[in-house]
Formats: sequence, structure tokens, C-alpha cells
Amino acid sequence: MAKKSAKAKPDALSPAEAGAEMARLANEIERHDKLYHGKDAPEISDAAYDKLRASYKALHEEYPHLAPPNDPEARVGAAPAAAFGKVAHSVPMLSLSNAFTAEDITDFVERVRRFLNLPEDAALAFMAEPKIDGLSVSLRYEDGALVQGTTRGDGAVGENITANLKTVSAIPHRLKKPFPKVAEVRGEAFMTRADFLEMNRQRAAWNAANPDRKPLEPFANPRNAAAGGLRQLDPGVTASRPLGFFAYAFGELSEPVGKTQQELRARLLQWGFTLNEPARLCEGAAALMKYYSELEGKRAALPFDIDGVVYKVDDLALQQRLGFVSRAPRWAVAHKFAAEQAETLLKAITIQVGRTGALTPVAELEPVNVGGVTVSRATLHNEDEITRKDIRVGDTVRVQRAGDVIPQVLGANEARPRGPEKFKFPTHCPECGSSAVREEGEVVRRCTGGLVCPAQAIERLRHFVSRDAFNIEGLGAEIIETFVAEGLVKAPADIFRLRGKREKIAGRKIGKKSWQEKSVDNLMAAIEARRAIPLEKFIFALGIRQVGEATAKLLARRYGSLAAWRAAMTAAGDENSEAWSAPTNIDQIGPSVAHDIAEFFAEKHNRNVLDDLAREITVADAAAPAAGNGPFAGKTVVFTGTLAHMGRSEAKAKAESLGAHVAGSVSAKTDFVVAGEDAGSKAKKAAALGIKVLSEDEWLALIK
Ligand code: IVH
Repeated sequence: MAKKSAKAKPDALSPAEAGAEMARLANEIERHDKLYHGKDAPEISDAAYDKLRASYKALHEEYPHLAPPNDPEARVGAAPAAAFGKVAHSVPMLSLSNAFTAEDITDFVERVRRFLNLPEDAALAFMAEPKIDGLSVSLRYEDGALVQGTTRGDGAVGENITANLKTVSAIPHRLKKPFPKVAEVRGEAFMTRADFLEMNRQRAAWNAANPDRKPLEPFANPRNAAAGGLRQLDPGVTASRPLGFFAYAFGELSEPVGKTQQELRARLLQWGFTLNEPARLCEGAAALMKYYSELEGKRAALPFDIDGVVYKVDDLALQQRLGFVSRAPRWAVAHKFAAEQAETLLKAITIQVGRTGALTPVAELEPVNVGGVTVSRATLHNEDEITRKDIRVGDTVRVQRAGDVIPQVLGANEARPRGPEKFKFPTHCPECGSSAVREEGEVVRRCTGGLVCPAQAIERLRHFVSRDAFNIEGLGAEIIETFVAEGLVKAPADIFRLRGKREKIAGRKIGKKSWQEKSVDNLMAAIEARRAIPLEKFIFALGIRQVGEATAKLLARRYGSLAAWRAAMTAAGDENSEAWSAPTNIDQIGPSVAHDIAEFFAEKHNRNVLDDLAREITVADAAAPAAGNGPFAGKTVVFTGTLAHMGRSEAKAKAESLGAHVAGSVSAKTDFVVAGEDAGSKAKKAAALGIKVLSEDEWLALIK
């Protein structure tokens, strides 16, 4: 039977026979995939497996329309990210802002109190929980049944991994009654340390028993092992990985399920979830710190990795008032544990050139395990740091890794033999040879080569396609680099002209990747999908110095369209003009950021990049403010003096949610000034300019 199919010639079969044979082969291949990847117990040789695939492929080429649902060809070469369906989260999946010191925690508690304008004696409770180092997922229940499970993705859109999540035993398929019609439960999928070690032990054993097979790589840490398990195309593989799940938050809810975080936890437990313990209700910063130190003491004894603790305002009504900044809630914070450290040999110092030309020294290290992760490179920050710490090639250095940040070199161990020579920081760009200069007052030395410098060009392109910018699936940093090296892409707009260069990609090996027709199709589709982009993403993608996501968003909201923004920023190029202060009139944008934006527009090649892009893509205007017709929609508001009923930040957030721009200073463009107690010069200036000044009570009445 197997022999016959291996030799099957498409033209020797009728379509009906071909369809049946394809289904049979697909099942066979699927079974062997499971044995190989899932159970690590293959039954056939690699050669026999390849033969099965070849037979299937031959039939598939002739009869692609007869492919069964488990079509093995549909799985080849497709990156997992492209293979899972995309799901937009009905409520965004946010991240948490980080805190490290006791002072950060007092600040956090203070900030919350100030925002809410709480009287000094008012109680304010926080729920403290361990912060699990795993993967956040969202589970959607309708009428109590699990209908969808997704990854976090970029927070707005995740991947559909329902089938995989259904194999995790700690995730109930049905909620215990009573439950609302729609409930989205969020939490962390993870692997225990013991299971992680056992998996690596099994992998090593399999490698030893199969010296002629491609070795299975060990997992670097439990988090990677869990992530790898969840992002398998084959749920059978996920099922073979021992994964756990802790529930700790909610997405969409068709009706409230509690008034406090504590009540929410009780509901999760009642529905059949496991909670992350030990959790504790704490009152005040001192109680939070006590919880933190106690848990840090227990950290090593816990069966799973935690990288800190999370504090959440317990009262949900207060959470609602506090709202969000950018991507993180104001009502919660992640208090991270001290970073893991290790010592190793500094083999060399290399210099990396960033997209703005900044020269960053990188430590090339003898690989060392730092808290479960192998580190072979770490940042040395800048020239002054190296000098100050007198770090030399040949030193034994202390390396630190904290969460997801880049590992860093802390200093040299002076008790160990030292490197012979002090490090001399280069004065020329190692990539293009242009001189590298340090402007007065700057710590960073920059290459003056601009776009002539290939490193800068590549870094800009990498940033341009990155997840929070154009987010072009399948066009990662490495591929951009190889496309640049091949001359396929020089400037951002070239990406959108790649479809005209198809024949230079398809069927070729570029860098490490061989480009099958199918993968070229996928890439082209991913590029086409990004020909329209929201203004804020576009601004961020340009990679202007100091213009991160939050600033890009502010600019997009303020100017609304690319044309309006560009006109204003070009006008702002003249520092002596009235227009120069335009960007700084936006709250949270200071003169140094404004200067960098103006400088970007002052350069002809940057303007050319924009013109060139305009021919290829459309930039969507920033969404109109949510409340489009209230008294504050589209208006510029300035707050001054002390408000009695809400903190300054809450007032600003409220005004913005009503569609207002909040500015820091009064100008002819201001529409309203809200004057609290002891309002000073701003209120006077407003009066002089004939601008409407509102008292706090008038303001409160208008926002009701
Ligand atoms: S609450 C609105 N609680 O940490 C924020 N997150 O660094 C909802 N995490 O994205 C998250 N343990 O994946 C929360 N007890 C816990 C957590 C926790 C781990 C993860 C979560 C989040 C990330 C932020």
C-alpha cells in the first residue's frame, strides 16, 4: 500500500481516487508529525517520511482543490504567526508599568491618591498578587462555553489558539454556574520549573538515542517552553506539554461580576479557575512592601517562576476612574524582583550603530547562564559608562538581566585579572567611516553619515517594519537586512515596490531563507495589507529621535492628518517663528522633542522619504475624538490652579476623553482655561486674551 502511493503518478489516478489518496496521505503525515514532534517517538525514518511528503506534494500540485482540511502543504514554510487566524480583542490586552524600588511604590500609591483626589484619611486597598512569568492569553466564554482562546499579540490583535488552549487541563471548557452571557477571562499560561527541567531531560535523552537525527534544542527557560507549546500548529503537540494556567483579570463582560478585585477572584475560583497565590489585600505602601519582601523570600521555593508582584487598586469603580495611559492601567503596577546576575569574561567590545546614528558599545561575552537564560551579549550603555567603570576587554564582568530588558554589564570584578588596556572609544563610525561626534551636553556619540551610513539605513528600515510601526508580517529585522544587502530595498517606500521585483525573490535563497512561491505570496499579501496605515503608527514608524509611540499618538491626535502635521512641523523648522512653539503647546511635548521633530523635517532626504511614501501608501487621518459633539470636542483646554474635586491628571484625562487637546500654556489658540484655587498668571493671560475662563464648578457641570 505504502509502496503504491509512494509511486503514485497524478495522471494515473481519477480525480476521485486522487482525492481519497491525498486524504489518506495527509492523515498518515499528520500521525507521523505527532509522533515526531509531540511524543518524540517517530516510527519511520526521515527518508520514509520525506517520501510520504513527496507523494502528497505531487498529487497536491495536480489537484490543489482536492486538498483535505489537514493539508500538510498548507503547513510547510508558513511561519506560525501567519498560520494562526487573527482576532481583534474586544477589550485591549494591556501591559503593566514597572516599578523597582520602595520609592517607586510610594510614588505609585501617591499618584493614585492624587489622581483620585482622595482625602488623607480615606482608605485605599490594593490586591497584591504574584507576577507569573508566562504568556498572557484571553479566553472567551459564551453562555458558559469556551468559544475562543487568543494570545496577547500586540495588545489589540492576537492569534487564535483556541484548539491549543483547550488541551490545557487548568482551563475549563465550561464555567460552573452562575455566569454572565459573555465573559472573557484573562490570565497566564505557564510551565512549572520541574516540568521544564523534565522536558529538557527528555529532549537530551532523545538526542542521545538518535545521534543521526537533527537534535532537539533544549528550551532556555520555562517561559520559552510554554510559549513554544502554545504556538504549535498541532494541538497534539501542545497537549504533550505540561502547561498550567492562572486567571487574574477580565476582558469583555456582559454584566458586572463583582465590585472589587477580591470579588472578581472569588468568581474566577467559583467558575473553576486556579488563582495565583499567595495573594493579599494590602492597605498602603508599607503593607505592599511587606508582601513583596515576604514573597521574594519564598520565590525559590515556589514551583513556578515569578518575576515580581502586581498591585491592583481593589475597588473597581476607582479602577474605572483611573483609566489608562498609553498601554498600561493607572490602577496597577508590576513591582519587579531584583535582576539576576552572573559573572563572565568580556571577550570584545563591538560598536552598534542605531537608526539615529548613535554608537552603542556592546559587550561580547563568554556565554553565561543568568537566571535561566544564556547571555552572550550585553549593553555597555555609552562611552562615559565604560570610562567611569574602567571596563576593559579581558576583564571578568558582572552581567545583569532583568525581565525582558536587554542584559547589561554592571562593572568589572577588580579582584580578578584585568584586561591589559583601557578601552578607546572610536571617533569614526565602524560601518561607514564617517566621523562620529559628540555634541555638547550629549552622552551619545553619533555617526554623521546620515543615510550614507548603511547601518543607519538598515536600523531605520527595521524600525519602520517593526511590530508597533508598520508591522509587516514576515518582514522581520533579519529579512530586511538581507533585502538591503541584495539591493532590493534601500528606502522605506521600496518595500511597497517589492511586488515589481517578485522574480528577484521567488525561488531564491536570500540570507537563510529560501523563498518558495507561497512564502513570496504571503509576504506580498502582508505588505499590501499595510498600504493604509493610521497616522499615529506612521509618525512612529518614521523613527524620529525621541518620538516614541506615546508622542506619535499625541501628535496624531493634535494634527489629525498627515498633511496638517507636515505643514505645521515644516513651519516649525524656523526656531524664531511663531510656529516653532506649536508642538510644544501640546501637553507632554517639550522643546527638546520639538527640536528633534523640526530637525527631521529640515533634512531634505527625510522630506524625500515622505514624498516617496506618499506615492505608495495612504495614511488614515487620526480618528475623531470619541465624544464628537460635546462642548470640549476639538477644543484646546488649559488647566491652572488647584482643583478640589479631582487631581490634575484625572481632569486632563477626562478632557481628552471628551475630545479636547490639553495644552500646557495659554495662547491665542486656547479655547478654555479651567481655573482652580490660586490660579495665577495663566488665568490672567487668558482674561487678557479674551479666552473663556471656567471655574471648577462650571467645568464639573459641563463634563457631567
Ligand atoms: S494583571 C491590565 N496580574 O504581566 C493589566 N498581569 O508585564 C492586566 N502578568 O501582560 C494584567 N501575572 O501577562 C496581571 N497577577 C497578574 C499577572 C500579570 C503576570 C503578566 C500579564 C501582563 C504582564 C505585564
